[in-house]
Amino acid sequence: MPGPADAVARTVGPVIVRPETSDDAAAVRSVERDAFGHDVEADLVDALRDAPLDTLSFVAELDGTVVGHVMLTPSLLDAPPRLVTVLALGPLAVAPGHQKQGVGRGLVAHALREAEAAGYPLVFLEGDWNYYSRLGFQRADALGFRAPSLRIPPPAFQVAVLRHHERWMTGTFVYPDVFWRLDCVGLRDPELEEVMARIDAP
Ligand SMILES: CC(C)(COP(=O)(O)OP(=O)(O)OC[C@H]1O[C@@H](n2cnc3c(N)ncnc32)[C@H](O)[C@@H]1OP(=O)(O)O)[C@@H](O)C(=O)NCCC(=O)NCCS
Repeated sequence: MPGPADAVARTVGPVIVRPETSDDAAAVRSVERDAFGHDVEADLVDALRDAPLDTLSFVAELDGTVVGHVMLTPSLLDAPPRLVTVLALGPLAVAPGHQKQGVGRGLVAHALREAEAAGYPLVFLEGDWNYYSRLGFQRADALGFRAPSLRIPPPAFQVAVLRHHERWMTGTFVYPDVFWRLDCVGLRDPELEEVMARIDAP
């Protein structure tokens, strides 16, 4: 079974990426809210932190201020021989004034390194494929994985395959209950309809 990663910090230029501490909760909440423009992801982060889940949570700090945040949550892969503990990445947020400067890339790179160091074989997410394909993720359906909902546009269901992955580790990705309870899986109409129409457009 994967164990907790050692608490390490890394620098990305002037930005330090480090594990979130109990003092960061309010700053993380405001970064999530400012980046997404609503409370959904901030509420999800608070609920995941409060749940009995061994989440890994990292912040990007610039001159003592939290400017970015990413969370990894233990989830399941329903593989033929047995359930496998994998990770869900998200939410990922960078404060609007600090975007397009490599902070998101630094947070994702740090998260993947920590996931690998902790022994996890796979990290799943749903998100913008143009963005995450630059950061070590690929389409999960192309590798034979099944999404947990038909409301996830296929290209948005992404996976990073880590060193501990073995060939038999395939199957359906299953989110923990908190994601469902807060209705944070996939998209809903009308957004879902719009995104699917864009994907289907020639
Ligand atoms: C998406 C987000 C996390 C990106 O963070 P960021 O710090 O601006 O991203 P980076 O500067 O690390 O960008 C890394 C690369 O992706 C590119 N990029 C940034 N945003 C992108 C986007 N929306 N689509 C495609 N590429 C993008 C950058 O140009 C950069 O490319 P390069 O390395 O070739 O120059 C940030 O814009 C954000 O918080 N957005 C609002 C919340 C959100 O959408 N979160 C993700 C949910 S899926």
